[in-house]
Amino acid sequence: MDSDFGKEAIQLDLFSHVRNTYSQAGEEAISNDSLYAVVAEKLGRPELLKIKTPVGSSGEMHNLIKRKIRWFQQTLKQLGVIERVQGERGVWRLAEPVGKDLHKAADGVRLVAFSTDLGVAFWGHCKDIFASVSEPIALCITSPPYPLRNARAYGNPAESEYIDFICSALEPIIKNLIPGASVVLNLSSDIFLSKSPARSLYVERLVLSLHDRLGLFLMDRIPWVNKSKPPGPTYWACVNRVQLTTAYEPIFWFTNDPLKVRSDNRRVLEPHSDRQQRLMAAGGAKRSATYGDGAYKIRPDSFGRVTEGKIARNVLERGHACSDTKAYREYALNHNLPIHGAMFPTSIPEFFIQFLTEPNELVVDCFGGTIKTGLAAERLGRRWMSTELIIQYLRGAAGLFQKFNGFEMHPALRSIG
Ligand SMILES: C[S@@+](CC[C@H](N)C(=O)[O-])C[C@H]1O[C@@H](n2cnc3c(N)ncnc32)[C@H](O)[C@@H]1O
Repeated sequence: MDSDFGKEAIQLDLFSHVRNTYSQAGEEAISNDSLYAVVAEKLGRPELLKIKTPVGSSGEMHNLIKRKIRWFQQTLKQLGVIERVQGERGVWRLAEPVGKDLHKAADGVRLVAFSTDLGVAFWGHCKDIFASVSEPIALCITSPPYPLRNARAYGNPAESEYIDFICSALEPIIKNLIPGASVVLNLSSDIFLSKSPARSLYVERLVLSLHDRLGLFLMDRIPWVNKSKPPGPTYWACVNRVQLTTAYEPIFWFTNDPLKVRSDNRRVLEPHSDRQQRLMAAGGAKRSATYGDGAYKIRPDSFGRVTEGKIARNVLERGHACSDTKAYREYALNHNLPIHGAMFPTSIPEFFIQFLTEPNELVVDCFGGTIKTGLAAERLGRRWMSTELIIQYLRGAAGLFQKFNGFEMHPALRSIG
């Protein structure tokens, strides 16, 4: 056997060649003999298939590269990436390919894709993974797939199934929430009735169901204003001209116990305006005035109390521009990975994590995408756990975590991209 066989480099090559052979074949089944031939060809070493080596105490002769290929094939099977073709021995094909080159975890797959000292990103279905978690959770912040008519590459649930989909994803998380913990959902208002410019009421139905079915209380609806959103809804605003272009997405904040809610607006104070700074320096207003039929009064010392900062208003203005999104894109492009189509900027989870949790508490995101929630939590010293269905997004996200303490990545991920 060649002396470099068994070294890390060739092993990882082998893993990715095995995986790519299945992904290039798509739905087509591949026999083991074709797999050996294609992989050896990809390695540029077809002669390896002819070499036999004595193995074990019996000294039985085996081809080591075929054994290695079968081992990687079994690993991919366990991860749910490939499945056996029914009724055919030794013939496998890619399981559940979604869109071009995206690999969805099969039911039951639970793989630690990567982890740091503070958190872990799992590959798998969120409800499978969170069903086996028993850690107390302080915050779940997530941006679920929206019930879009034109689905994203990763797939979207239909509007008719949406409430069940979200409730079943959140149920195993809600059972572990500590009293006063929060659930924050970033949704879309841009879902329209069929062939109509009227908006769907799915958001309203979801809010009622989260209360009625899962016992959550609505704390607030916080518009995330993003004026850099591309103009849309295209048909109703840009072509038909009956709607305005959308500049916000609604963010819903719930808690399981409003009287014990753990939010603290002092953790998200904003800088005072120059005008307020001047008022505080001058000891307050110098005039008297009355507004709103006497409901608001300005007295000579009003606004003079010196405070650490301004209480944040319940509207978040955040553009899409985000240095983490930029870094993720660059990393994904360099590693030949598909780019996620619906990321939020890290500043969104960052705000809610600060507002709603204390350092070291556990923050989770069941629809993790590029693991921006994990990233914000990691920087803010919170523990985190995220789940994501598509392995390539996790591979791209891993690039953003390499510098954090205790970073480790599963070898199966290393072979992707
Ligand atoms: C809107 S994206 C989230 C993007 C994320 N906030 C970010 O900034 O990257 C929704 C994600 O949920 C994932 N997803 C959908 N169904 C899932 C499930 N059952 N379990 C885990 N992830 C799922 C999709 O693959 C997609 O990446």
